[in-house]
Amino acid sequence: MYNRLVIIGAGGHGKVIADIALKNGYKDICFVDDNIDGDCMGYPIVGKSCDLEQLNNGETDFVIAIGDNQIRKRIAEQHKLNWVTLIHPSAQIAYGVLIGIGSVVMAGAVINPEAMIGQHCIINTCAVIEHDNQLSDYVHVSPNATLGGTVHVGSCTQIGVGATVRNNISIGNNILVGAGSVVIKNLSFSGIYVGIPACFKKYSK
Ligand SMILES: CC(C)(COP(=O)(O)OP(=O)(O)OC[C@H]1O[C@@H](n2cnc3c(N)ncnc32)[C@H](O)[C@@H]1OP(=O)(O)O)[C@@H](O)C(=O)NCCC(=O)NCCS
Repeated sequence: MYNRLVIIGAGGHGKVIADIALKNGYKDICFVDDNIDGDCMGYPIVGKSCDLEQLNNGETDFVIAIGDNQIRKRIAEQHKLNWVTLIHPSAQIAYGVLIGIGSVVMAGAVINPEAMIGQHCIINTCAVIEHDNQLSDYVHVSPNATLGGTVHVGSCTQIGVGATVRNNISIGNNILVGAGSVVIKNLSFSGIYVGIPACFKKYSK
């Protein structure tokens, strides 16, 4: 870990990540953002995403603070940078958990034994990832969502705020489970699923 951290994205999610970075001991923080200028939480916004390679002085860590899974994926694939994993000190990470590079784990999240989290995932505030879950790359588990034991989640899928996924369920790639929904059957086709039980609602844009 270097002292210097560049946070890509200066929106609300970026602020939460900056707070985690400060708690992890980063002293020198800055943001890049394509749409916001000035500063964020008193830290400078120093450029756009096209400037990323120029900001890499070899002693800089980078993290993507963008909630959209596809955009996070595109940035991660386009730029070879020193991506870091950031974990809030109040998160509970159990024995045998593996967390991929670039992933962030927010305050109060619980990840139970032998769960595997892919790269550039977001395990948001107070999310629960039970034992033996397998989350692919670029997954976002939103605040207060709960995944029971041995759940599999495919790449770029988002589990919405407060949603619940029953144990032993498989959810495919590029799926969005709506806020508060409850998944009790495997979901394989990409698209948006809502309700209790969660059913296909429409294709993603
Ligand atoms: C599912 C979701 C993506 C749909 O948003 P949208 O594309 O703008 O669609 P709409 O709000 O127009 O809703 C479409 C339909 O789905 C229903 N619906 C939307 N969200 C729903 C939900 N969470 N649960 C149940 N039904 C829902 C609406 O009532 C509407 O029903 P209708 O067709 O009978 O009128 C959105 O409501 C959602 O839940 N997003 C997740 C947000 C989240 O967790 N963000 C994380 C931030 S950290």
